[in-house]
Amino acid sequence: MALPHVLIFPLPIQGPVNCMLKLAELFCLHQEIHVTFLNSEHIQQRLLKCTDVQIRFKKYPNFKFMTIPDGLPEDNPRTGDQVRNLVKGVEDVSSPLLTEMVTSGLLSPNSEKPVTCLLVDGIFSFAVDIAKEVGIPLLYFDTISPCALWTYLCVPKLIEAGEIPFKGNDLDALVNNVPGMEGVIRRRDLPSFCRAPDLNNPTIQRIIKEGKHIVQAQGLIFNTFEGLEGPILSQFRTLCPKIYSVGPLHIHLKKSLSSKCSVPKTSTSNSIWKEDMSCMDWLDEQPNKSVLFVSIGSVAAMSKAQLLEIWYGLVNSKTRFLWVQRPGSVIGLEENNDIPIELSKSTKERGCIVSWAPQEEVLAHPSIGGFLTHCGWNSTLESIVEGVPMICWPYFVDQQVNSRYVGEVWKLGLDMKDVCDRAIVEKMVREMMEVRKIEFLERGREMRNLAIESVNEGGSSYKDLDRLVEDIRLMRI
Ligand code: UDX
Repeated sequence: MALPHVLIFPLPIQGPVNCMLKLAELFCLHQEIHVTFLNSEHIQQRLLKCTDVQIRFKKYPNFKFMTIPDGLPEDNPRTGDQVRNLVKGVEDVSSPLLTEMVTSGLLSPNSEKPVTCLLVDGIFSFAVDIAKEVGIPLLYFDTISPCALWTYLCVPKLIEAGEIPFKGNDLDALVNNVPGMEGVIRRRDLPSFCRAPDLNNPTIQRIIKEGKHIVQAQGLIFNTFEGLEGPILSQFRTLCPKIYSVGPLHIHLKKSLSSKCSVPKTSTSNSIWKEDMSCMDWLDEQPNKSVLFVSIGSVAAMSKAQLLEIWYGLVNSKTRFLWVQRPGSVIGLEENNDIPIELSKSTKERGCIVSWAPQEEVLAHPSIGGFLTHCGWNSTLESIVEGVPMICWPYFVDQQVNSRYVGEVWKLGLDMKDVCDRAIVEKMVREMMEVRKIEFLERGREMRNLAIESVNEGGSSYKDLDRLVEDIRLMRI
């Protein structure tokens, strides 16, 4: 009988690749499971260039990378609005290749190491048919937060109840048809695609399709923990009996590595941009909890006008800041010499700008006191794990929901969605870094402790990972 062999296929953007690779490494530490990680050629090339991932995974004889085209020309951007085209490219180009690979190709039932389980991003509806054709179980790993995914699954209900498309312009009206979120979610907190005036909008149609497929999987994996999203996870259990909540994956992995390897301090970076480590030296020179970290992740973008509002807000607040200005993340900014001289001057005095940072390390640094974030799910979790309060400036899709939860439910920060005004930025920065600093840091500590407990031996995420590994082990052809 063949050994269990899981094929992992993430959505080829930074956030999902990052956490799926961490799950893959956790599987490798458990041994007795073969793991094939299917990356887009574009991501793989960048990973190899920017990290030591190849060396890191070499020590696992049961692990293998494979690559597949993502359907976009190499020089095509894969950020901002282009993510929609990327998803389409994967559906049109990667999915037939994947089908061929597991039905008659290198990983088929007749091969030396047939795949016994597909583990893919929840957005890949096509995987249901592939798994059925080969006759193997399918696990969906939705790398966004369960609270955001739950609102996606409620889209048909919201349409049926006439809540979307919105009637009128009141974005502050409460939403009634997302069970478990009554009194919490306003229209503006729903995923950004809910603002589309037309139900034929391709993203809404995709989300409706995703909702139908997701419940056909044998199990759903989430990068979260019970102490954070217990009530929403219970809602999911009514739809799918096997829910594995194994996060936060980055500390889960660090913990497992330190207990299983002799060298505990291994880098686990999966960055597809080169990290500028010089910012760590700059952080070393700053006082405790004095620096605001600013980053909008790997996909979000802003206009030049928004850049200037945030920049003036930061500078006027007089707070120290470390800002990641990812290349290409500011639309219409040709050269940094476009920037008013007073901003550059103040930045030299109390700021540091890099093009990409070692974010997990930055958030863990004692000088960091806050995070102005787009609320991508990995960034949100990384901040929670370090007890760092957040100012949330969501860009699109799930981030709108995450930011509401950070501000209103978890009380871990302030939600600045739909606003980009220097006076508001200044006010929010002062409120978080000065006025309510102690309150937010205290709350951050509580949530951090819950996160750590969940991955400690016997914790909820620890037990769910064990259960997941055991279930995969039983999936044999
Ligand atoms: C995507 C989606 O757009 C988002 O909606 C979803 O929630 C997650 O995936 P992304 O920008 O990749 O967003 O966000 P996030 O999940 O926060 O992932 C970014 C990753 O890049 C984090 O793990 C973060 O640590 C890393 N990062 C970011 C760095 O390593 N350095 C940086 O300078 C910035």
